[in-house]
Amino acid sequence: MQIHPTIAGLRAVLAKAGRIAFVPTMGNLHEGHIALMHQAQGHGDTVVSSLFVNRLQFGPKEDFDTYPRTFEADCEKMAAVGVAHLFAPDEREMYPMPQAYHVQPDPAQADILEGEFRPGFFRGVATVVMKLLSIVQPQAALFGKKDYQQLMIIRNMVREFALPIEIVPGETVRATDGLALSSRNGYLSETERAEAPRLYRALDHIRKDIQAGEPDLARLEQGAMAELRASGWIPQYVAVRKQLDLQLPAAHDSGLVVLGAALLGSTRLIDNLEV
Ligand code: PAJ
Repeated sequence: MQIHPTIAGLRAVLAKAGRIAFVPTMGNLHEGHIALMHQAQGHGDTVVSSLFVNRLQFGPKEDFDTYPRTFEADCEKMAAVGVAHLFAPDEREMYPMPQAYHVQPDPAQADILEGEFRPGFFRGVATVVMKLLSIVQPQAALFGKKDYQQLMIIRNMVREFALPIEIVPGETVRATDGLALSSRNGYLSETERAEAPRLYRALDHIRKDIQAGEPDLARLEQGAMAELRASGWIPQYVAVRKQLDLQLPAAHDSGLVVLGAALLGSTRLIDNLEV
């Protein structure tokens, strides 16, 4: 695997790389990232990944400084799964001057759910992803359903700007007890790690109740929030939404997804399940 710290160096090799399948990451790789890189092989001749912890998408009180940085181990994992080129810029390469132009997603999509609790998050994500897509110029880019709202926003951004790129979703990879893999799981203490799958189980419960015909979605959402609270969590939202645009469903709508975010101690966990 070749590692490219500069845009110019990357572009020089990618000019001859054929169709590119791209997996952007912030590093600290786990099986969820690896599964996307594996899947990417079916979507191009050359798999390219990026590793960049994007300051623009972190709030002032969030974990930018402490976000786990494990470059050597990440490189070994990427090489083993067949990534041919890794774009690993530093901040001066990505943002030589403070970024003055931003991609501002529709507030109806970006200020709800995650965006309500992380103001500016999707502006930071959309801006860096637009820049990465412009640098790499892939024919396909892969994003995990674990970050469901991120996937929707990127898909809509690519469509609205008519970028000639296929956005390919990857299924959420979970630990055997159901916990969705996340770089932030490493922040959990042993006791918290044992408690953490409760979020998945609460969402799964809602999914099963909907499938069994329960019509009162608000009751299901509030029930899950109360259960999390009773177990010491601070839930931020549990919401049943339409898969396509994450807006509120009308009665009898199908194609739903149940999403949740909650703090366990000081760790913020998110998850979702399609119904
Ligand atoms: P990061 O959190 O490193 O995630 C990189 C990719 O891995 C994203 O598409 C994410 O949805 C996917 N992913 C994470 N956990 C997963 C899991 N358990 N199963 C399947 N896929 C999983 O998401 C970002 O980085 C950044 O916002 C980024 C898009 C790179 C922009 O900075």
